[in-house]
Amino acid sequence: MVSKTALITGASRGLGLALARELAAHGWTLILDARGAQALNAVHAELSSLTTVTPIVGDVTDSQHRVALMQAIQQAGGLDVLVNNASTLGISPRPNLLDYPLDALTAIFQTNVIAPLALMQAASPYLKDGAKILNISSDAAVEPYAGWGGYGASKAALEHMTAIFAAENPRLRVYWVDPGDMQTQMHQEAFPNEDISDRPLPETSIPGLVALIAGNLPSGRYQARKIGLPENGVRELRTVLRAKNADETLAFYRDCVGLKLLQTWENDAGRGYLLEGGRATLEILDEGHAAFVDNIELGSDSGNPIRLGFEVANLDAAAGTITDNRLNHMVTTPWGDRNLRVQAPDNLQVTLFQVAEKKDE
Ligand SMILES: NC(=O)c1ccc[n+]([C@@H]2O[C@H](COP(=O)([O-])OP(=O)(O)OC[C@H]3O[C@@H](n4cnc5c(N)ncnc54)[C@H](OP(=O)(O)O)[C@@H]3O)[C@@H](O)[C@H]2O)c1
Repeated sequence: MVSKTALITGASRGLGLALARELAAHGWTLILDARGAQALNAVHAELSSLTTVTPIVGDVTDSQHRVALMQAIQQAGGLDVLVNNASTLGISPRPNLLDYPLDALTAIFQTNVIAPLALMQAASPYLKDGAKILNISSDAAVEPYAGWGGYGASKAALEHMTAIFAAENPRLRVYWVDPGDMQTQMHQEAFPNEDISDRPLPETSIPGLVALIAGNLPSGRYQARKIGLPENGVRELRTVLRAKNADETLAFYRDCVGLKLLQTWENDAGRGYLLEGGRATLEILDEGHAAFVDNIELGSDSGNPIRLGFEVANLDAAAGTITDNRLNHMVTTPWGDRNLRVQAPDNLQVTLFQVAEKKDE
C-alpha cells in the first residue's frame, strides 16, 4: 500500500504531536514543523522508527520556511492532508481589546490566519485527489469571551477564510475544527495561574480528527469531540470502578493492560483517573452463556455479574507484562478468538482477547 503523506504544522507538542503520533502509528509519511529545534528533533527520534518523518524547523510566518515545507512535499510525491495546527495565543495575560497593542494583534493574525492561507496556496499544486485540509480553530472563534479578543478574532477570521476557501474549492475536503479545551502549553499560557490538570489531554480530540482525515465528511465546521456522535442519545459507555487502592488499580489498567491515561482529577475527598478504553460495547449474556464463556476462559463458572473485556491487536504482546495475575492459560475459543482471563484489582476479572482474523481479509 502506498503511504499517505500529511503536513502537520506545530507538531512538537500538544495536539499536533498527538496527531503525528496517531498517523505515524498507521504508517503515514509525515512532514512536521515547529520553531523549537530540540522538541521537534525529539519527535523525529520518537516517530522515525514507525514511519518516514521529515522535521523542518521554522516559523510558519516565514516564507522561506514555507518553501522548505513545499520542497519536502514535492519529495514525498504530493500531499494527502494539510493540518494547519500551529497557532499563537498572543500576549499572556490576555489584554482586553481597548488595551490590545496593535502590533501584537498583527502578529497573531500573521500566525493564525495569513500563514495557514499561505500554506494552502503554496500546497495547492501538490494536493492529491481527495486531499483534505484541516484548519484547527477554537470555540473562541464563535463565542465572544471577554479577554479573548485577539486570539478569538484571529480564529474567527481563520474560520471564515477557510469556509470561503471551501466554497471556492469544491474538489477538496476542507474542515475548520474546534478541538475543545486541552491540557497543553497554550492552554496553560491562557490560564497562567490555574491548575489545568482537569482539562482533557489532546489525545481525546484525535479520534475526531482521524474521522475527518479517514472519512468523507462534507467540508464544514466540526467540533472534534462530537464528530460521529448522535445529537441525542448515549455518547459514551463509561465504566466506573470504586478502587480500594486507586494507584494500584491505575497501574494495572495503564501499565499492564495498556490503557492510555486521559485525565486525572483530585480534591480534598480523593482522586480519580480516566483511561481511554477503546470502543465501548455492552455485552449481555444470560446465566447459561456466561457460564459457558467462563468455562472456556477459566475452566469453571465464576458466577461474577460483571467482567471487563479489552480487545487487543496482539494478545502475546499485550499479555507480556501480565504474568502473576493470569487466572488460566491463553485459550482459543470455539469461534477462533484467543482469550486470556486475568485477575484485576477490586475483585474484577478481565478478559484480554484477540479477535480471529477473517479469512477474506
Ligand atoms: N489547548 C487548547 O485548549 C486549545 C483549545 C482550542 C483550540 N486550540 C488550538 O489547537 C491547536 C494546537 O494547540 P495546542 O494547545 O496543542 O498548542 P501548544 O501545545 O502550544 O503547541 C503548539 C505547537 O505549535 C508550534 N508553533 C507555535 N507557533 C508556531 C509557528 N509560528 N510556527 C511553527 N510552529 C509553531 C509549537 O512549537 P514551537 O513553539 O516550538 O514553535 C508547538 O509545536 C492550535 O491551533 C490552538 O489554537 C487549543
